[in-house]
Amino acid sequence: MSQKRSTWSNQFAFILAAAASAIGLGNLWRFPYLAAQYGGGTFILIYLILVVTLGFTLMTIEISIGRKTNQSQLTAYTALNPKFKILGILATIIPVVIVPYYCVIGGWVIKYFITYCKMIINPQVNPLANSGEFFGGFISSNFGSFGFGMIFILICAMVIALGVKNGIEKSNKIMMPLLFFMAIGISVYVCTLDGALDGLKYYLIPNMDCLSTADGKFSFALLGKTILGAMGQMFYSLSLAMGIMITYGSYLRKTDSIEKSVRRIEIFDTLIAIIAGLMIIPVVYIYAVNNNVTPELIASCNGDVAAATNAAVKTAMNAGPGLMFVTLPNVFAGFGAAAPYIGAVFFLLVIFAALTSAISLYETCVASICDLLNMERKNATFFAFFAIAFLATFSALGYGPWANITVCKLQFLDFFDFVTNSVLMPLVAGLTCIFVGWVIKTKTIEDEVEACGTPFKSRKLFVIMTKYIAPILVTLILVGEILRNTGFFKI
Ligand code: PHE
Repeated sequence: MSQKRSTWSNQFAFILAAAASAIGLGNLWRFPYLAAQYGGGTFILIYLILVVTLGFTLMTIEISIGRKTNQSQLTAYTALNPKFKILGILATIIPVVIVPYYCVIGGWVIKYFITYCKMIINPQVNPLANSGEFFGGFISSNFGSFGFGMIFILICAMVIALGVKNGIEKSNKIMMPLLFFMAIGISVYVCTLDGALDGLKYYLIPNMDCLSTADGKFSFALLGKTILGAMGQMFYSLSLAMGIMITYGSYLRKTDSIEKSVRRIEIFDTLIAIIAGLMIIPVVYIYAVNNNVTPELIASCNGDVAAATNAAVKTAMNAGPGLMFVTLPNVFAGFGAAAPYIGAVFFLLVIFAALTSAISLYETCVASICDLLNMERKNATFFAFFAIAFLATFSALGYGPWANITVCKLQFLDFFDFVTNSVLMPLVAGLTCIFVGWVIKTKTIEDEVEACGTPFKSRKLFVIMTKYIAPILVTLILVGEILRNTGFFKI
């Protein structure tokens, strides 16, 4: 390779960048609703166990592969064993598919931030009074979703073109601390609201109901479903199985500790996910109790108010994209004069989280182009911009003018989401573990972890996970997800 590879300035810059990639829409939006669906503390507990075992193992593998080969995922697998070229190709397809639709959603977030800013300037006008209509109108408008998506992609492109140190590192140094403090600020505010305590209990106390059938019997099927949900979330949230950690690892200096870095990235990512739950669940709980626990609902739960409350909160938290773009604006509206300010801070925080994640995705695409074609970063960024913008058009217009075109009965954006999260990511993760455990052998990775001069403390856990447990768990996700999405598996 003729061009000198960039490196992070120091270990902290790497940890911050990897955490910035990991902390994204998955933490702020997906984690809270999964926690609310799957029994609060029960889900959090299962999630934590998975992060420190399976998540740790996969992230260690990816970063080590990157640092050892000094290459991004497209060529890194081939460098270790030419027969596994296909793994690099699959791992490259994932960010290429995800980044366009992630940017489209990022564009939606910018739109909401601007809308709240306008409401601060002119409190008389409230475009979000009917948030469902606002959201539906916006995503189905001809150029709204498309235009804001393009703005979002352009911002990412500018950061990437500036390079690893001047672009990615610097932007993370500004956005990540701001994100953290805004999240703490909002969660403290939320936790002091009347009625927040019940919402907190709902969120944090392990609730075994989610593991029991209607007649109160423990169900292994439901436990399996909860574990699958937590595992899928963990992959997504830690930005695993899509080559990002390989690319970011390839910029890591030999003297930096991979093991310590991974542990810190996990802590940051999980902390923000839990804080996101603190920001969102109590307010949605209060909102659901005040608006949705109707006499009819109580009657349908045989007069059991607690059961009716649970049902109302679950429904309010279940809304997929609607949770962030429809339910939360309704919830914020209840804050009266503070609403536009809370809304603006919240969506600014989400913009930062989404931008830093999208930048990491975009960067892996650019790094792959540079490695493959030996192209200069600026040219590769430019080239990738057009490719991403082109692909984003499908997701952006898929809810509007192209709404009647579907792939496997799904809208473009949902189809891309399914193919990557449910099929390709578990596939790449499973094959990577088999590749490391049985082909290049775990020793290759262990040596890379120890290259910084300190012993690999979790070596035993790492070996057992890589060779046996991870491939089994990941196969289960793959089969479970495919069955669930094709309608064979309903609980
Ligand atoms: N980890 C990010 C999140 O939690 C999502 C992401 C997905 C980031 C894919 C990069 C790549 O939102």
